[in-house]
Amino acid sequence: MSSELISPLKIGVAGLGTVGGAVVRLLEQKANALALHCGRPVEVVAVTARSRAKKRDLGTCAPRWADDPMALATDPEVDVFVELMGGDGDPAKSAIEAALRAGKSVVTANKALLAHHGAELAAVAEKHGGALDFEAAVGAAIPIIRTLREGLAGNSFDRVYGILNGTCNYILTRMEEDRLSFADCLKDAQRLGYAEADPTFDIEGHDSAQKLAILASLAFGIKVNSQAVFVEGISSIAPEDLEAAAELGYRIKLLGVALRTQDGIEQRVHPTMVRLGSPLAEVMGVTNAVSINADGVAPITLVGPGAGGAATASAVVSDIGNIARGIYAAPFGRPTASLIASERAPMQRHEGGYYIRLLAVDRPGTFATIARHLADEQISLESIMQRHRNAEPHGGDDPESPHAPAPVILVTYATTEDAVHRALREIKNRGVIAGRPQVIRIEKN
Ligand code: HSE
Repeated sequence: MSSELISPLKIGVAGLGTVGGAVVRLLEQKANALALHCGRPVEVVAVTARSRAKKRDLGTCAPRWADDPMALATDPEVDVFVELMGGDGDPAKSAIEAALRAGKSVVTANKALLAHHGAELAAVAEKHGGALDFEAAVGAAIPIIRTLREGLAGNSFDRVYGILNGTCNYILTRMEEDRLSFADCLKDAQRLGYAEADPTFDIEGHDSAQKLAILASLAFGIKVNSQAVFVEGISSIAPEDLEAAAELGYRIKLLGVALRTQDGIEQRVHPTMVRLGSPLAEVMGVTNAVSINADGVAPITLVGPGAGGAATASAVVSDIGNIARGIYAAPFGRPTASLIASERAPMQRHEGGYYIRLLAVDRPGTFATIARHLADEQISLESIMQRHRNAEPHGGDDPESPHAPAPVILVTYATTEDAVHRALREIKNRGVIAGRPQVIRIEKN
């Protein structure tokens, strides 16, 4: 092939932070290989960023500066508008819409924008014929979007679930391996630059919820809607939960789970017990992973770096490569008009096993009361572990007192969320437990 004879695909990059800079450098470093793979050269012709004066490494490439994202999005020379500014609204949203209306294709890594306006933007792309690609929005370098949308286009999905937030997985890994508190591990994650200065978005599960909503849309043909995701973060997880999980043959992970149920598509993010030895249980540190249960194939798990400049740039460049090849796929894998509205998951009907840690008051009849209320709700126990109160410094009460509560850990067989909550409310009302019960859902392999 003589690439000189073929017109290059011209790229405009909006946002030159860690990811934007890495994309510009990668496109330059891999220019020859990309031209060979795609049958067409790819060239960054223009860029824009909040501060033009800031010193940044863009390799030897010297693109033109556009005044602002809108000017870049509508620049007649630009074929593909690459949005790497972030944010769930403007200027990213207006600029993407303008680029699509001008007949350009768009590549974005912006999960927040897609989680809020994904279906709306997909409709604009569809109307004007441009691509809207977002491989980098979930799991960065893990090619999960293309796997669901194209690689498994002939399959139906039962469940898509995974570790979608590296910060939380890092914190849980450190808590388990080094027996540290949640607060200490969070500080460490911030020091290493994994967690944001305001870490709430990561640790309370909202980052995972946005990513899950995008995966659920692709897998189940529903409109992307992060408000439909039930969300619970990891801040209540204590070192004793991680120790108990290991004794019971589990590991605790913050999972995002999209599951087909009789009541519709359940979308949930919460700390989860996963069986030791299962693919997701073995994923440690900042790494992300997604498991897929689809008909006709054995379970598939994709594992890889879910954040960082190089990993995210890898996904952005793969999207640009597809556009250079002339590959077009409907953004969410099917016509936007056929996407079904997604309702909030009815978690009270969630079915599964539960890990429950209680502080049982030390007096005759406590166990009988707990057992009676569980039985009243048809909850059957797989195991019971009682800890000696001296081994439990977090109990709060004087360990020498004969009445200090002692930790009891229960593992239930499959039941419903409603039944667990009703039983625990009754147990609490009877005064046989102290404090708030810890409840962690168990996910089947
Ligand atoms: N903050 C995210 C994480 C990365 O910790 O995985 C960006 O989505």
